[in-house]
Amino acid sequence: MIKVADLNIPVIEDFDINGRKVLLRIDINSPVDRKTGKLLDDSRIKAHAETIRELLDKQNSVVIISHQGRPGDDDFISLEEHSKILSKYVGREIEFVDDVIGPYARERISKLGKGEAILLENVRIVSEELIEAPPQQQSKTFLVKKLAPLVDFYINDAFATAHRSQPSLVGFPLVKPSAAGRIMEKEVSALSKIFNKEDSPKIFVLGGSKVSDTLKIIEHLAKNRVADRILTGGLVAELFAVAKGINLGKPNMQVLENKGLLSLIPRARKILLSGAPIEIPVDFTVEKPSGELSNEPENNVSGIIKDIGNTTIEIYSSFIKEGKVITLRGPMGVIEDERFRIGTKSLLKASIESPGYVIIGGGHMISMLDKDVEINPNKIHVSTGGGALLLFLAGDKLPALEALHMSWVMQSGKS
Ligand code: 3PG
Repeated sequence: MIKVADLNIPVIEDFDINGRKVLLRIDINSPVDRKTGKLLDDSRIKAHAETIRELLDKQNSVVIISHQGRPGDDDFISLEEHSKILSKYVGREIEFVDDVIGPYARERISKLGKGEAILLENVRIVSEELIEAPPQQQSKTFLVKKLAPLVDFYINDAFATAHRSQPSLVGFPLVKPSAAGRIMEKEVSALSKIFNKEDSPKIFVLGGSKVSDTLKIIEHLAKNRVADRILTGGLVAELFAVAKGINLGKPNMQVLENKGLLSLIPRARKILLSGAPIEIPVDFTVEKPSGELSNEPENNVSGIIKDIGNTTIEIYSSFIKEGKVITLRGPMGVIEDERFRIGTKSLLKASIESPGYVIIGGGHMISMLDKDVEINPNKIHVSTGGGALLLFLAGDKLPALEALHMSWVMQSGKS
């Protein structure tokens, strides 16, 4: 049992999970190369191998479910490549099953032998999985009704998706004995220890393309007074710049419009007016229509913004140097193109060289870590989480953890 805030969360030791059939939710959602469709980073896949290996060593039959991307996005792809990488890290074959709840998947689950594991297809091909609702409602979905009767236990190892109240995360704990997997257990234990309320200043470096999610995170960080400085980059920074009244030029406004982000401007403005400690880049690296790159001030941009600029890197690095805890999530620029990785890599370097403790989250940010960087656990925590990590640090109760707690209360009669 682990304690997270006031919640008791059951772990694997709380049950006799030997030679049983286990449904294991992991999060191997990984960044995808838009051109080749191949995975850019496999650190989440590598991390989950530990829980799978342990369950297989105990002669369990393991049915693995996960998601990848969101319908409509470039990274919404099959989990077939993931199954090969997972097999490599686990050291045993993880068979890919091209189905989630249909007769083929259910038949394969029923016939699964002891010490065998299968990975079902991307759970988000089941449309119910995209709907967020309370656990009671999710426990009545087709996904839960079709799969739960075929297994003895449910284990949730998907810390990185613990902030979503989706059926695969909160529905099963209400109908099956359930526990947190090793990654879930390690993440919440390590982060609860590292992230001390008293340590300040706390610096957050937030970029990436999940703009609406990041606004929610910033609202929570600001409301709970967790952040001393929020250094923005990527599309998040552009949105705040526009909300502040900075003219980024027509082509960049067009990018924001094409991505459906203009409607978020009033929300960003409200965050700024609330006094949230938001920092906005003072310059950017832009790509001109001729293809030429230049470093330009934020109020005189003549091309498409691709990265934060040199002066911003200097200013942000000086803030980072003062931080007691520095949390980074989401790149500062379009890192798919090597020319626009300088901002992200420079801030990662500044964080690692600073005296503060560093928490790195989100697949894109992790993929920018130099392979030769030594991950000393007394200095750096590389989290599997992105949005979930930030909301956890903001003091939010994550729905997947709450559902595991509810399961424990229902099973044991204790609170
Ligand atoms: C993440 O990468 O943050 C998690 O896998 C959750 O993905 P989502 O934001 O598409 O729900």
